[in-house]
Amino acid sequence: MKNKETENKIEALLKELTLDEKISMIHSAEFFRSGGAERLGIPGISMNDGPMGVRNDFEPDKWVTIGSTADMTSYLPSNSAIAATWNRELAHTSGAVLGREARGRGKDMILAPGINIKRNPLCGRNFEYMSEDPYLIAEMVVPLIEGIQENDVSACVKHFACNSQEYERLFVNVELDERTLREIYLPGFEAAVKRAHSWALMGSYNLVRGVHGSQNKWLLTDILRKEWKYDGCVVSDWGAIHDTKLAAESGLDIEMSVTPNFDEYYMANPLKEAIKKGEISEECVNEKIRNILRFMLRVRLIEIELKEQKNGKVKAKAVRVPDRDPGCVNADVCHAFVRKTAEEAVILLKNDKKILPFKPSETQKLLVIGDNANRAHAAGGGSAEIKALYEKTPLLGLANEYGGNTQVKYVKGYYVPRKKADLVNWQESSINIEELNNDTRKKSGYSAEEKKLIKKLKDEAVALAKEYDKVIIVGGLDHDLDVEGKDKENLKLPFGQDELINAVLDVNPNAVVAMVSGSPVDMSAWKDRAKAILWMSYNGMEGGAALAEVISGSIVPSGKLPESLPADFKDTPVAKYGDYPGRKLTAAEKKVMNARLTQRFNEGVFVGYRYYEKEGVKVQFPFGHGLSYVDFAYSGMKVEKTKSGFNVSVQVKNTGHVAAKETVQLYVGEKKVSKENPVKELKGFDKAEIKPGQSKTYKFKLNAKDFSHYCEESGKWEMMKGEMVIYIGASSADVRCMKTVKI
Ligand code: GLC
Repeated sequence: MKNKETENKIEALLKELTLDEKISMIHSAEFFRSGGAERLGIPGISMNDGPMGVRNDFEPDKWVTIGSTADMTSYLPSNSAIAATWNRELAHTSGAVLGREARGRGKDMILAPGINIKRNPLCGRNFEYMSEDPYLIAEMVVPLIEGIQENDVSACVKHFACNSQEYERLFVNVELDERTLREIYLPGFEAAVKRAHSWALMGSYNLVRGVHGSQNKWLLTDILRKEWKYDGCVVSDWGAIHDTKLAAESGLDIEMSVTPNFDEYYMANPLKEAIKKGEISEECVNEKIRNILRFMLRVRLIEIELKEQKNGKVKAKAVRVPDRDPGCVNADVCHAFVRKTAEEAVILLKNDKKILPFKPSETQKLLVIGDNANRAHAAGGGSAEIKALYEKTPLLGLANEYGGNTQVKYVKGYYVPRKKADLVNWQESSINIEELNNDTRKKSGYSAEEKKLIKKLKDEAVALAKEYDKVIIVGGLDHDLDVEGKDKENLKLPFGQDELINAVLDVNPNAVVAMVSGSPVDMSAWKDRAKAILWMSYNGMEGGAALAEVISGSIVPSGKLPESLPADFKDTPVAKYGDYPGRKLTAAEKKVMNARLTQRFNEGVFVGYRYYEKEGVKVQFPFGHGLSYVDFAYSGMKVEKTKSGFNVSVQVKNTGHVAAKETVQLYVGEKKVSKENPVKELKGFDKAEIKPGQSKTYKFKLNAKDFSHYCEESGKWEMMKGEMVIYIGASSADVRCMKTVKI
């Protein structure tokens, strides 16, 4: 990654900088821009959220949007939706769209992707993250970051590390054992850094082992810089810095925050004073400048020109790169890629008696019920909010898909109390915990007129459901619940949807239910009654069209769950082992920790399916589950030993009448499962389209690491011994074939 000539140029330019200039470069000069050194031609770095598109622009020092239409952009499927495709190519094209549009909006760094482990289904930001499984995260984050960084713009993988809850997110401390850290919480970031070479990384708000993630020397220097040899640019989360010396000496490069007193930031005047007093060495600032300049060269924000002077001295200055990629925004080709991803992100959870698809030729009348059928989600969720050029809702998607020969009738079905739209952006108070924790949404039940409205909406939906043979109910959550800064209180389906769905099923047993949600919800009230259930996370501007195409059958569903769907929080490992949201600190802890809560990830590596399978806890739908409109027959599994491990192959036949895509998953586990290990863990997957009646051979390579666990005593990865089982399945709970091998 580093080369001599570049490093020499960086050194030469570094030498020209005054301390004041260096200090201005290592903290916000505007909410989304770091300071520059104009005298030497060095601009600030322009940063912008987020994982679902290039968020609208704000005033430089006020949380007020600039209010123009020039910042309308593509609205991509969430990271959960991208992960649900299990399609590495679509991860790459999604990254390419995000990077291209970031460049098109004049940005240097897009603050994405978010890849924290979906440890706790209550976490408000689950929709922004990919999965509960580190292997799936690693395999999807690498192509996504590569796609972003092909456009002279940088990804910024976040939030490093263990940021898996929103409650007290700035002041909750996370304790966890080394094996859990290495096997579950770090692999996604390690792949992003070592394989995808993410040119930037964002620290987390929470503390890890007693120190805030964004000023944590153990995370940012010992692991990131020394062990992983990371030479990229590290930015803090916005308002995540609390101490000048810790931040300066931690491996952090740029402090960002949400208040306009930029010169008072910890790494601004206070750091300058500390350096002048000799309390902190200027060399630690120099190291930050090296990382920042290297970042600027990588995104081709500048080139460094060296000029020999008459006196033989070399002077350096930064110059703009004339042929830097201009990017582009809202190109049709980008919307086409967004559509492709959205189509493969729709998950068919259930389809008894194959009542889906509703073929248009057989659908004269279609009843669409539910607020989420007619709801746009782009402009919510927190920093992932997007001012979308457009967003096709499921209702629009269905109307477009079925056309004029089908009468599409819509009724709201359930009532959603809406928070008043705040004029001042939420982020103004995003680090004021009191504000965040006094949940204005907590209502003491509905008013009398609300109750009347709820009944009217339900009665209207039920009355119509009796007359229509094809009925779709679109429900789920929204960004008042799936939102940054807050966790949900439970997994209950809100707004009386259970009662509505059951009342409709009472009169029309063939009604199909589609859930739009960024995190698991409790469907147990009707899951066994409904014949067909579809699932999609916030699926971008084409999400409604993609859902409609699956319902009509013009697209055969191929999505698979990137996370388990437990029915109730009490079923989760966090409820059983964790002390979520964390306990108060003892007096002794308060002395050494700037936290308000502390919690231990007691479940260890038993996150998600690793726990449910180990403990035999039933979930509504398991990790990796997703049906098609055809059936696939698996056969002929072969395992052959190689020098470095094993080659595995399996034949999969499409026994249906339409082409369809299947994601084959490979898991590894001990034949005799020891107490400290999960039953099996995902170590491979591949997705391919198979023509009707045809077969395809899926091939996988396994190496020593796939059979290893992190050993705390030795501090190394050690291979397991004895008989191991290689499982091939259509999901973590649908094993089609397996072979035992001896290690
Ligand atoms: C927010 C989020 C982070 C985002 C940043 C800038 O608080 O935690 O994901 O990129 O601040 O908006």
